[in-house]
Amino acid sequence: MVVSNRLPVDHELAEDGTATWRASPGGLVTALEPLMRASGGVWVGWPGVADQEFEPFENDGISLVPVSLSQHDLEFYYEGFSNDTLWPLYHDVISPPSFHREWWDSYVEVNRRFADAVAAVAAPGATVWVHDYQLQLVPRMLREARPDLVIGFFNHIPFPPYGIYSQLPWRKQILDGLLGADLIGFQRVADAGNFSRAVRRLFGYPTRGTAIDVPDGGQRFRRVVARHFPISIDANAFEELARRPDIQARSRQIRDELGNPKTIILGVDRLDYTKGIGHRLKAYGELLAEGRLIAEDVTLVQVASPSRERVGAYMDLRDEIELAVGRMNGDYSTIGHPAVSYHHHGYPREEMVALYLAADVMLVTALRDGMNLVAKEYVAVRFDEDGVLVLSEFTGASDQLKQAVLINPHDIEDVKSAILLAVNMPKPERKRRMRALRRKVFDNDVAAWSASFLETLTGAAKVAPG
Ligand code: F6P
Repeated sequence: MVVSNRLPVDHELAEDGTATWRASPGGLVTALEPLMRASGGVWVGWPGVADQEFEPFENDGISLVPVSLSQHDLEFYYEGFSNDTLWPLYHDVISPPSFHREWWDSYVEVNRRFADAVAAVAAPGATVWVHDYQLQLVPRMLREARPDLVIGFFNHIPFPPYGIYSQLPWRKQILDGLLGADLIGFQRVADAGNFSRAVRRLFGYPTRGTAIDVPDGGQRFRRVVARHFPISIDANAFEELARRPDIQARSRQIRDELGNPKTIILGVDRLDYTKGIGHRLKAYGELLAEGRLIAEDVTLVQVASPSRERVGAYMDLRDEIELAVGRMNGDYSTIGHPAVSYHHHGYPREEMVALYLAADVMLVTALRDGMNLVAKEYVAVRFDEDGVLVLSEFTGASDQLKQAVLINPHDIEDVKSAILLAVNMPKPERKRRMRALRRKVFDNDVAAWSASFLETLTGAAKVAPG
């Protein structure tokens, strides 16, 4: 069983009142969908709308068990504690986290609801894989309700250093919730290290390598493993789409529609302050202002998919980004040559693949990102071994994708140099780098990720209490 805040589909009402199910946003769903389709497992999660109850149902070969959230849960548990407390705290406090006791109460209550839903349907001895920061209390709650279960947890976002984590008023409760799992997975070595350090500092439990010995009553302890498992994508599925003639035709059409610039630079992100979209625009804008790039030759296509639109920091960010884009277009676009082609939409995967194929340079400037699957998608699509990936060091992906042009997005001069390097990179170097990147992504795809996590989980759960 998989448990995550969101199901892979959101319930949506069309303008004519008909109900549809639409793919939900984010890297978590991209990564888990292929695994769930192949394994025939059950996925427990929220169907994306408030105050509506749904019976379990099948969608595209996956069994879904909806957990409903009220409007109050949405405001306190989802928008509040998950996305205005934990999200900024776990992403290096790029935006200041808010701490509210009512939000915490709601987080506990909703985590309990998810744990109850799983406990009610899980077969004896089932393996349950809980995902992400919205559900960190579920492992402990489940272990108490169903000690027969094998419980894994994977954190898709960074786990912060102790100096930041320790600000959280509920820091001990969260660690204790996670330690209910047999295996706790993180994106990067540093995340797993930060977690183990927090456990040592706050509980004093002995840790050795990836093992943590958690007291389990009296002289006994339970061995919990905390390790990194960098997540990935279904690389072959992306390449298959890229090879489709209709998608290649669409990619040529995109270039035409942009006025056939020499170079297309692409950014694809949820509209989130962690993604460094403002830093990217600043660097690009300065290059235009200095005449080192001109809009006749280069277009930046920025896809910013709507996200968490009722959280204040996201509303402010949208205003800020759209003001910057408007200014830049006013200053530098010519008729038929936009400096920035900006799109506040989510697109189907086919369209994204066409965009990746059209992009000569992919710009990932996240200030902090658990992994960044967009970087891996771009590489998987480029079967022509062309295209340049510019990648922030502050993404999990940069631990693996060393042949990208790596940047510190806070250093605007560094971003500018990287953009120019990428735009002017000779073809043999583009090919050499892309080949190496592709090997990394195809050798470490999402099937390898889930197999490695689940194998380690089986091993970890077998270790008897000492
Ligand atoms: O990967 C991080 C994550 O928060 C996922 O848990 C989530 O599914 C995705 O980003 C999109 O965020 P949200 O569900 O808040 O729209």
